[in-house]
Order: sequence, then structure tokens, then C-alpha cells
Amino acid sequence: MDFDEVINVRRTARVFTGKKVSKEQIDKIIKSASIAPSARNRQPWKFYCLTDTQKEHITGMLFDWDRENPKEKTSVKGSAQQIESADKMIMVYKDSYKSKYKKLNYSKPDYLSLGCAIENMSLQAVDLGLGSCIVCDTLYIEEKINEYLNIKGYEQICGFIIGYPIFDTPPRQKKDVKELML
Ligand SMILES: Cc1cc2nc3c(=O)[nH]c(=O)nc-3n(C[C@H](O)[C@H](O)[C@H](O)COP(=O)(O)O)c2cc1C
Repeated sequence: MDFDEVINVRRTARVFTGKKVSKEQIDKIIKSASIAPSARNRQPWKFYCLTDTQKEHITGMLFDWDRENPKEKTSVKGSAQQIESADKMIMVYKDSYKSKYKKLNYSKPDYLSLGCAIENMSLQAVDLGLGSCIVCDTLYIEEKINEYLNIKGYEQICGFIIGYPIFDTPPRQKKDVKELML
């Protein structure tokens, strides 16, 4: 695929066929993150590829949270269904580096770096014929997930689900470029 096609056809995938994603494809997606730009080339990202059992467990935890919090109007249940449908899920983390320069603490640039890495992953998935969805709804149970995976000292940024997509709804509308200009 040429670059214009990759960037134009990328859209969030929410439903997936049952087809398996290979280890080579996952490795390539993580490699694409590893070469993203980052503030001061700090490369503050870490990844955890869930096993099927771990993905199932985390999906169950999200469904439980949704059942236990009926008054909260969130998209947690929908995200859990999407995770269930996807073949693979990678948890994305940021290291806990803090700059000695108090004003910035360097957290904002590091979050931006994570965004660059995650977008590389999204585009790489498209080029491999795959679909993906960034899932921040895992943050509702961030501590529980980190405890379950025994992850300490890293900040959870999101989950990233991958699979062969089924697109049964139209693409999301995007604002006209003119509207974006200040
Ligand atoms: C930071 C971020 C967090 C997101 N979190 C979720 C999520 O928790 N659940 C979900 O279904 N989609 C999530 N999405 C996907 C957005 O809903 C999607 O990108 C948006 O609707 C635009 O659609 P598009 O990606 O097809 O252009 C997230 C996207 C971003 C960038």
C-alpha cells in the first residue's frame, strides 16, 4: 500500500473476523512503535502482549466493572465487546521518568511521544491488512489490570487491539481542514 492509501483508509476497527494475527505481524507492529519520534529520543514506551487467557480475563474484568457501575454512562461495555472480538491485545505503558525541571516534569512531551508510537502501530496494522482500535477504557480498571499483570512503575496509557476487521458502519466524519485553522 502506498502511504496516501494507508493514512486515508485507516479507521478504527471494532468488529473482527476470527482470523489469527501472527507473531510476525505483532512483532512488526511493535517494531513500528519502536522507531517513532520521541521527545529527546527518550523512547518512553513499554508494551505487554497479552496471552489469550490474559485478554479473556481483562475482558471479564471490564464486563464486571460495567455491571457493578450501572449508573456510569461509559463506553466500557462496548470496548469490552471489541476486545473480545479482536484476536490480540497489546497493553501500552509509559515509563515514570520525571524531569528535574519542575515546570514541565517532561510528562507532556512523553505523552506526545506515546501518541506518535501508537499512531505508527495503527498505520502499520493497516499496511499489514489488519485493523486496530486504541482502547483507553481499560483505564477505568487500570490498577486492577496492572496488579493482575504484575506491572509496577509504569503508567498504563491504553490497550491496543488488533485483528482482521469487519467494517459494518460508515467511517467517522472528519472536520473540514478549513474548520481547523485558527
Ligand atoms: C486516545 C484514544 C482513546 C480511545 N479510546 C477508545 C476506547 O476506549 N474505546 C473505543 O471503542 N474506541 C476508542 N478510541 C477510538 C476512537 O473512538 C476513534 O479513533 C474515533 O471515534 C475516530 O474514529 P476513527 O479512528 O475511525 O477515525 C480511542 C481513540 C483514541 C485516539
